[in-house]
Amino acid sequence: MFLWGTATASYQIEGAVTEDGRGPSVWDTFSHTPGKVRDGHTGDVACDHYHRYLEDVALMAGLGVNAYRFSIAWPRVMPTGAGPVNQAGLDFYDRLVDALCERGIAPVPTLFHWDLPQALEDEGGWLNRDTSRRFADYAAVVAERLTDRVHMWITLNEPFVHMVEGYGLGIHAPGRALMFDALPVAHHQLLGHGLATQALRAAGAEQVLITNNCTPVWPASGSPEDLAAAETYDILHNRLFNDPVLTGAYPDLSAFGVEIPVRPGDLETIAQPLDGLGINYYNPTRIGGPAGDGLPFRFEEISGVPTTAFGWPVVPDGLRELLDSLKARYGDALPPVYITENGCSYDGLDDQERIAYLDGHITAMRQADVDLRGYFVWSLLDNFEWAEGYHQRFGLVHVDFETQQRTPKASYHWLRKFLEATDTLE
Ligand code: NOJ
Repeated sequence: MFLWGTATASYQIEGAVTEDGRGPSVWDTFSHTPGKVRDGHTGDVACDHYHRYLEDVALMAGLGVNAYRFSIAWPRVMPTGAGPVNQAGLDFYDRLVDALCERGIAPVPTLFHWDLPQALEDEGGWLNRDTSRRFADYAAVVAERLTDRVHMWITLNEPFVHMVEGYGLGIHAPGRALMFDALPVAHHQLLGHGLATQALRAAGAEQVLITNNCTPVWPASGSPEDLAAAETYDILHNRLFNDPVLTGAYPDLSAFGVEIPVRPGDLETIAQPLDGLGINYYNPTRIGGPAGDGLPFRFEEISGVPTTAFGWPVVPDGLRELLDSLKARYGDALPPVYITENGCSYDGLDDQERIAYLDGHITAMRQADVDLRGYFVWSLLDNFEWAEGYHQRFGLVHVDFETQQRTPKASYHWLRKFLEATDTLE
């Protein structure tokens, strides 16, 4: 069965950050640090989904989706990142999973969507190899509780974005600006993915995926400098996270001048067989040769296409291009693909641009020559968009953050009709 779903993440929607024994995460610390998030917004309340999850599940049932991708907050389950286990935190996900199953919606949890327990960050976070092992311990605890009802698991969300924005540039939590010295964060997350995959399987998990954020990389011109820079950027953004998982080897990382701390056996652990590759796609990236600022590439604007309220270029065919390029690169090593996020930020309830965006991307993905098994819209609800706070609205459902009132947008009704008329991809 093709999965049609919506996607969210714990810190972006749950709120209730001190409730039922939840420990602090790096995002609590970061969002409460003045100047880090636009207008000082935090996830303290967010969409109050922790208390309103039944209403949100009802919205999904009304939409007609058969799957829901959400994330589990590690600091709810293990408030200090390692034992002891907080049963009250697990209880919330138990209730959520039950509510989804009752409505015929397959729960697809992601185990890490960036809200690392602060106690682990205090020990170095993902720069510390131990975090990988802790992640696997946490995965085992969650699987033990939910694997009787959860058939599909996602280990990590967008390890590239977490490495670059969280540890390379400091735009996201934990706010470290190490530039390429952040590269060990890639390895430790990937190792965590491999160890967690083993732990999930040992607990009886049926299907395990990782979600990578991928982008088609367009060279700014045919010049050798631009072509080389585009290849370097492709390595950093796409191949650094796909190659080890799918082929058991890192690409050539010499352009970044930093050694990755690989120990014997790590690559075998990382390359556990997977049941699917989750892909988050938003837009292509145009890259030119070095600008002399120390970076081996520079970002170039993509002009002549519409942009979202976030200013991101809208290029639906980039999704087909991306999927076809994955097939060309990995061939039979490419498992079934799930689009685990695709969506856009626009204001207003009559969001015709979002309808055009979703329609265009669904059409484009259907043209790709890959084994495609699912598509999840980011997002069900307007929510806490990280450093942008509540300013970027990605929801199919509008949220009034003063009253918590949910109002389905035109795109929600469009998708409902689309799903009514669509049984499978064929
Ligand atoms: C990808 C991230 O996984 C999600 O958390 C974020 O809100 C969307 N992109 C939109 O930026």
